[in-house]
Amino acid sequence: MSTLSLTIDGQKVEVAPGATILAAARKLGIVIPTLCHVEGFAPSASCFICAVKIEGRPGLSPSCAMPAAEGMKIATNSEEVRAARKTALELLISDHTGDCVGPCKTGCPARLNIPNFITGVATGDLRAAAEIVTDDLTLPASLGRVCPRLCEERCRRCDMEGALSIRNLHRFTADTDRKTPAPYLPKKEKATGKRVAIVGAGPAGLAAAHHLLRRGHGAVLFDAHPQPGGMLRYGIPSFRLPRHVLDAEVGMIRALGGELRLGRKLGRDVSLEELRRDFDAVLLAVGAQGSRGLGCPGEELAMPAVDFLEKIEDGQPPAIGNDAIIVGGGNTAMDACRCAVRLGAKNVRVLYRRTRREMPCLREEVEAAEEEGVKIEYLVAPVKLERKNGKLTLTCQRMELGAPDASGRRAPVPVAGSEFEVEAACVIAAIGQMVNFDKKSAGEMAFSKWGIAVDPRTLATNLPGVFAGGDAVTGPDLAVRAVADGKLAAASIDQHLKGESVIGAPEAVNVLMGKLNEEEMAELFRDIEQAPRAPMPHLPMEKRLATFEEVELGFPPDVAALEPNRCLGCGCGKAIPCRLRAYATEYGVDPNRFDGEKRHFARDTTHPDIIFEPGKCIMCGACIQVAIAAGEDVGVSFFGRGFGARITVPFDKPMAEALKTSAKRAAEVCPTGAIMLKTSGCIGCRLA
Ligand SMILES: Cc1cc2nc3c(=O)[nH]c(=O)nc-3n(C[C@H](O)[C@H](O)[C@H](O)COP(=O)(O)OP(=O)(O)OC[C@H]3O[C@@H](n4cnc5c(N)ncnc54)[C@H](O)[C@@H]3O)c2cc1C
Ligand code: SF4
Ligand code: SF4
Ligand code: SF4
Ligand code: FES
Repeated sequence: MSTLSLTIDGQKVEVAPGATILAAARKLGIVIPTLCHVEGFAPSASCFICAVKIEGRPGLSPSCAMPAAEGMKIATNSEEVRAARKTALELLISDHTGDCVGPCKTGCPARLNIPNFITGVATGDLRAAAEIVTDDLTLPASLGRVCPRLCEERCRRCDMEGALSIRNLHRFTADTDRKTPAPYLPKKEKATGKRVAIVGAGPAGLAAAHHLLRRGHGAVLFDAHPQPGGMLRYGIPSFRLPRHVLDAEVGMIRALGGELRLGRKLGRDVSLEELRRDFDAVLLAVGAQGSRGLGCPGEELAMPAVDFLEKIEDGQPPAIGNDAIIVGGGNTAMDACRCAVRLGAKNVRVLYRRTRREMPCLREEVEAAEEEGVKIEYLVAPVKLERKNGKLTLTCQRMELGAPDASGRRAPVPVAGSEFEVEAACVIAAIGQMVNFDKKSAGEMAFSKWGIAVDPRTLATNLPGVFAGGDAVTGPDLAVRAVADGKLAAASIDQHLKGESVIGAPEAVNVLMGKLNEEEMAELFRDIEQAPRAPMPHLPMEKRLATFEEVELGFPPDVAALEPNRCLGCGCGKAIPCRLRAYATEYGVDPNRFDGEKRHFARDTTHPDIIFEPGKCIMCGACIQVAIAAGEDVGVSFFGRGFGARITVPFDKPMAEALKTSAKRAAEVCPTGAIMLKTSGCIGCRLA
């Protein structure tokens, strides 16, 4: 027989005897995923990703190794086949050891491409850094001042002498670019003619506008306040976030074409029905504007912290006298007490019902407040507030920590008979905010326990064409999460406007190494010198106590130029071409489905051209074949069996001797980042 005839996914194809099913499928243009297969080499059939179903045969067969036969009927993409591939991928990835992308990047809710912008700063290409920072992150200079640095908690450098100063570097990048004659303005796609109404010009609304405008849509922001910025303006004081910085960042959104209709309140000046009628989509980003009271008799005598802060912003600071008590332990409490100091109060006390460890604000905020003279009393809760002899008297009770509550923190429990009284000219309640969106103005919209109910994948509400994000959905949270929500909402709204299915912003599968053991840390930090984290210069104390001038002054250029050198450039140099990651993403793989023992992190950088990371090896054998084909004297081979099996160089020779002429080809055929070129942009390059 000169040719064989077979049917693949219902299509007939003819191939020469000896051809594999994979080759026959390719002839039809049908793509079957492969990992261990290398064109021209004998099949190793070790990965099973190319599995297909042959009618009449039990189980599935590897198409790269299975010869085609006359009359075969094959399914390459049935549910059974896809499920088998997914399981094979989950098994392969279950013990994979590496960081696909820098852990800092996955730590930033807005997914700022940290390693790439840091490279820009490190190489002195501040414009390139500014482009990344401005495109990825709305309000990079503002977040560069107030973000609690979620990214830095994940920085690998934490295991050495302290995280890289990522937040201060993106602040520096954005501040420097803003001062250039032509600051970077993101490019816009062609105008689509579609218009989106965004209610709320806080971080969530501004971020949505930023990303919608870039996609060519129109964005009109409605806000009840006379100025944009939400809690960044009316909550966070100017000594942490100067208004000219916020104004300039809002100016960028205006320059992109964003229209701001200020002093316009949904439910008062405009209705949801009107917005749904007049615009192609609506985003509700109204924040959590309501204040919680002290929760005790007389709570109406206390001033809500957000009202206090807003009055200062409006230039009408309330008279607070000499003694001020602030109840609470979050950012709002810290901002309120530091404002009280600046308004001249001599005796500023913060009462918090848990201990310092449980305080939800940044450590540095507590330290700054204490440096400025604020006294913080822990394990104290208010019981009653009353006015006596022209002064406020707060009855308090001592607390102790009991079992953890729903938030995971140990719940404060009153100590019987421990009541005591404190006097103050003013008591400020900084207990927390809540979503107080007027439900009457929301029509049929569904609500959750925290705020507006949405599909978390897309931020779509139950009303067609209406999306919601930021604090309005989560309850009081963080500015960077609101910015991330705005970005996600823009992606979903864009899909909605184009008539596509709304799927949000699915991400590629990322394997993360997690916490390293001591041996692995020694391996990671081999050849890396200790270098302390750059300190932030501060305004002198005498000015801090008397003015609302910015306290953290920002990195001077020489410091900003040195700090990026501490970055390890984490992330895999082959994250984009890696086929294991691409298929894992395509097949919706859960990298932790088979959670078990992981390989150890190790890295061999001794070869002049390549880096070998055995933890990323899937034992496909392609490098062995390449070395044999190249006639290498030493080559590489499998060693051991089962979980402990690995690729090694025989006789403990160095990798440079094993792959003398075939290293680059091995990096090419290796389907993962186990063998990669030193020029591929990972840490290994810096070590070379
Ligand atoms: C005092 C304080 C300090 C904080 N400190 C920090 C910090 O250090 N770091 C940090 O990350 N986060 C901090 N936060 C939290 C952060 O500010 C918020 O998480 C963030 O601003 C939420 O953004 P948003 O856009 O969802 O809502 P918001 O910022 O609240 O913006 C909502 C906007 O909607 C408008 N709006 C509301 N209702 C209507 C309506 N009916 N019609 C029209 N407009 C309406 C409001 O005027 C407002 O401008 C702080 C918050 C406060 C209060
Ligand atoms: S916005 Fe916050 S989490 Fe994101 S990179 Fe900046 S400091 Fe890190
Ligand atoms: S060392 Fe650099 S790349 Fe690695 S986690 Fe830290 S900031 Fe990110
Ligand atoms: S190192 Fe060799 S055996 Fe391991 S995945 Fe890469 S090519 Fe395959
Ligand atoms: S078994 Fe066919 S590509 Fe791996």
